[in-house]
Amino acid sequence: MNILLIGSGGREHAFAMQLSKSTHCSKLFIMPGNAGTASCGINVPMDPLNFALVGEFCIDNEISLLVVGPEDPLVKGMRNHFEADAELKKIAFVGPDETGAQMEGSKDWSKAFMAKYQIPTAAYQTFNSSNLQEGIAYIQNHSLPIVLKADGLAAGKGVLICEDRKEAEAELNKMILENKFGSAGSKVVIEAFLKGIELSVFILTDGTNYQILPSAKDYKRIGEGEKGLNTGGMGAISPVPFADEAFIEKVKNKIIEPTIHGLKQEGIHYVGFIFIGLMNVAGEPWVIEYNCRMGDPETEVVLPRIKTDLVTLMMATARGKLNEIQLEVDSKVATTIMLVSGGYPEGYEKNKIMTGLDQVKGSTLYHAGTKLGSDNELLSNGGRVMAVTSLADTLQEALAMSNQNAALVQFENKYYRRDIGFEFLEKA
Ligand code: AMP
Ligand code: GLY
Repeated sequence: MNILLIGSGGREHAFAMQLSKSTHCSKLFIMPGNAGTASCGINVPMDPLNFALVGEFCIDNEISLLVVGPEDPLVKGMRNHFEADAELKKIAFVGPDETGAQMEGSKDWSKAFMAKYQIPTAAYQTFNSSNLQEGIAYIQNHSLPIVLKADGLAAGKGVLICEDRKEAEAELNKMILENKFGSAGSKVVIEAFLKGIELSVFILTDGTNYQILPSAKDYKRIGEGEKGLNTGGMGAISPVPFADEAFIEKVKNKIIEPTIHGLKQEGIHYVGFIFIGLMNVAGEPWVIEYNCRMGDPETEVVLPRIKTDLVTLMMATARGKLNEIQLEVDSKVATTIMLVSGGYPEGYEKNKIMTGLDQVKGSTLYHAGTKLGSDNELLSNGGRVMAVTSLADTLQEALAMSNQNAALVQFENKYYRRDIGFEFLEKA
């Protein structure tokens, strides 16, 4: 069958590699893709948010399966566009509709959902310009630190953790009165700080059945020792050492089952991935956030551990047959280290020539921000440039391999964290 994959990051290169390897895949198109995905299929330089054109492309190219990588097309209703058309609705579509994507698209909506279905999450209230004074009073009576979250999508920057009340008050004013995050911040969720260790659990659901995918831990800060500015993610490991069977069982009973049940109760036919950002607070899982997609770079450690044919898995999801799947997961440990452009997540330069990829042995390189230049040379094309993923019997071996190979890929001002996963080695 012909497949269309939407997106252009490391996550999509990981998807593209695995989809293209399936015997069920005839042609794979990636829209818009990057230099890495070009070696798995055909890149299509079109804007995925132009749903009418995407629809025409699907008809013209006899697409049978569409997999959406990033959240934006989902939050903006790509699935709804396909469902509203007699021909397009026949395409197997992996990704929730606009209502389901609110899990990520509106923090207020997802907090209310969790409260309604008694899913453990930090206590909260939502404020906007009509009750701003109540918001200020709420801050004054709140314990520290205080977490402020822009309601809408804010490119991963909409969460502020304030150590004092004056700062929180000033930030609330900036979000609501001065549009600090544009319309995304016109509503603000104020919530309690959860102290613990973060991890992510991913599920794939067809609306009724679900499969729990391997857990992962992402390293979000730019600096070693989790210091400095937040990024899209600087590296990841899977599985998470403390997320043992007993912990995952708690996640299943307290979070996954009530989430699937809640979505059904709300009349939402959710088809796709749910990324559950969790805090392990003294052995108990609490939800920090939901995302309506896979994580990046978490995908670069989760997918390589899934042995089940990815096209079969995606088709079973779209067709309501996930109960027929026996998910096969590699017991090996996966690690990834993200190579980024110097200066990221603030200003950085693109178009740096990349070399040394042919020196890499034993790791898989997932392109994130790359493109081919006019002479077919490989160029950097983003803040996050390339993920170096390794699979091994132990975390130590996988990390050693990722670190060794991360050093071999060269481009001017390359930066990467050398401490991904190391807190678990010290304890081992
Ligand atoms: P998000 O954009 O929702 O992923 O939040 C960004 C980061 O802020 C999360 O990965 C956490 O590290 C942190 N965070 C968000 N909410 C809380 C909370 N209630 N308590 C502690 N940390 C939080
Ligand atoms: N790595 C975090 C995310 O994809 O949201």
